Amino acid sequence: MEKKIVIAIDGYSGCGKSSTAQKVAQVLGYIYIDSGAMYRAITLYCIENEINLENTAQIEEALNNIHINFEWNPEKQRNDIYLDDRNIEKEIRKMYVSDKVSEVSKIHEVRVAMVAQQQRLGQKKGVVMDGRDIGTMVFPDAELKIFMTSDIKIRAKRRQLELEEKGDKIAIESIIENLQKRDLIDTTRTESPLRKAEDAFELDSSFITFEQQADYVIQLAKSKIKNDNTIINSDVIANFTTA
Ligand code: DC
Repeated sequence: MEKKIVIAIDGYSGCGKSSTAQKVAQVLGYIYIDSGAMYRAITLYCIENEINLENTAQIEEALNNIHINFEWNPEKQRNDIYLDDRNIEKEIRKMYVSDKVSEVSKIHEVRVAMVAQQQRLGQKKGVVMDGRDIGTMVFPDAELKIFMTSDIKIRAKRRQLELEEKGDKIAIESIIENLQKRDLIDTTRTESPLRKAEDAFELDSSFITFEQQADYVIQLAKSKIKNDNTIINSDVIANFTTA
């Protein structure tokens, strides 16, 4: 039987991590897990239940009451996230959740609970997980680690289009502001800040097509699965032409 590996995709908000991870999982027949959705689910719960983020006891109680599940959506060919029995896939992508998510995800108790759940989900391997600390904290032994970056204006434009498709019209300036604020909190927090793992391949998605970025990761993954030591050099990315 073919060896199964763990693929960790980390990087800044809006670089295309989740669409890349989804595509890679689909091609390899792996499970895709969106760890950011889990932090968003906790954030939604905290907003709806007016949890005081400064109050550790309240946070701990909330974490005991929160049940996050992923369920396969055949129409979209991906997992949707559920809070108990409620599909919250759409709600968690809204701006009011994006505005609070970095605050919630820097809380120690939240991270401990999420990392433990993510590690359980990846126990059997055959998993592609995207987030901020997957290669550094959740799966430090992942066979393949990717660190994605991208120009902020391009990231913001991509987010704006995504939100527009869902009926949310948001000015580009406020999206840039939200991304910058999240980047700052995500990279400077004391607990598991966003950073590139030493053994991660860096992938700048600014000027390449979606197909190119997915293909890059798929090639690396296949090489890791075969263990044939023909891992393509990350310079390959420099040969891609502008999208
Ligand atoms: O990937 P995303 O933009 O949906 O993630 C939402 C937020 O969750 C992000 O601003 C930081 C946090 N996050 C995290 O701290 N660790 C992860 N592994 C994934 C996301």
